[in-house]
Amino acid sequence: MDQPIIETAAVPTVAPDLARIAALEAGKVLYFPALAFTPLPAEARLFTPAMRDPASRNISLDAGGRLRGAAGEAQSQAALAAMMLRFRAQAQALIAMLCPAYVDALRCGSTSFRPSLIETRAQSWRADDRRLHVDAFPSRPNRGERLLRVFANVHPDGVARVWRLGEPFEQVAQRFLPRAKRHSRMRARALHALGMTKSLRSEYDHLMLQLHDAMKADLDYQQHAPQKTVAFPSGSTWVCFSDQASHAAMSGQYLLELTMQLPPGRQYDTTASPLAILSRLTGRVLV
Ligand code: SIN
Ligand code: FE
Repeated sequence: MDQPIIETAAVPTVAPDLARIAALEAGKVLYFPALAFTPLPAEARLFTPAMRDPASRNISLDAGGRLRGAAGEAQSQAALAAMMLRFRAQAQALIAMLCPAYVDALRCGSTSFRPSLIETRAQSWRADDRRLHVDAFPSRPNRGERLLRVFANVHPDGVARVWRLGEPFEQVAQRFLPRAKRHSRMRARALHALGMTKSLRSEYDHLMLQLHDAMKADLDYQQHAPQKTVAFPSGSTWVCFSDQASHAAMSGQYLLELTMQLPPGRQYDTTASPLAILSRLTGRVLV
């Protein structure tokens, strides 16, 4: 690895640390070993894989506070939603301390609770987050909006969540852009007309999906790409732009996560976004 891909940080208490913001915007993971989300004693019963409806990939709470993907009786679902709301508020407060200039521009996405054991989940290669990837979602074009995510390992028995972190975004893009299929506006219009995308897939969205898929499909890359394995212990928190940081979740159970969206023009350094990098490398206007 020619540059470190993770920064260990103390809990922020004072005015913005520009070096830390630059690291985050360069695609590094900010890791807070001493920042825990602490469930209440009464919430211990929510820590079972049975909380997830087997038909859903995750349990999520949308920006409006609606819970989806949970199983079990109404009372435990309400308790789960309350715990997730508390996590969301704490994660938002962390981002506000870390990157105050984002606050006015951030859009709250969904909060998830992931009670399933990663190691034994059977998934298609494309959905398998144990393969290194950058996040890009087929049905939700975002035209360059950033995906800022806060993760907290809340495993009650101290089991770490183990990730792999890969090479910087620009290297990923340089490696895989030459293999990317061309964007087709006609296909984008058809996907939208068929209801398969929530809005029109821009060339940016197309390229991000191509990178996501090409990374995951390439087993040689998965094995030999520059990478580092990092164990996030339970009781720790980490933050990254997951559309930029190459990552894979290898093992662990019980995670809380919040996704927020940020217009790339609202970054401290607007040249650091995947949109700016892909535009520069292709020489094209992508959105
Ligand atoms: C991912 O975003 O790839 C998965 C993160 C996790 O479940 O730890
Ligand atoms: Fe991911």
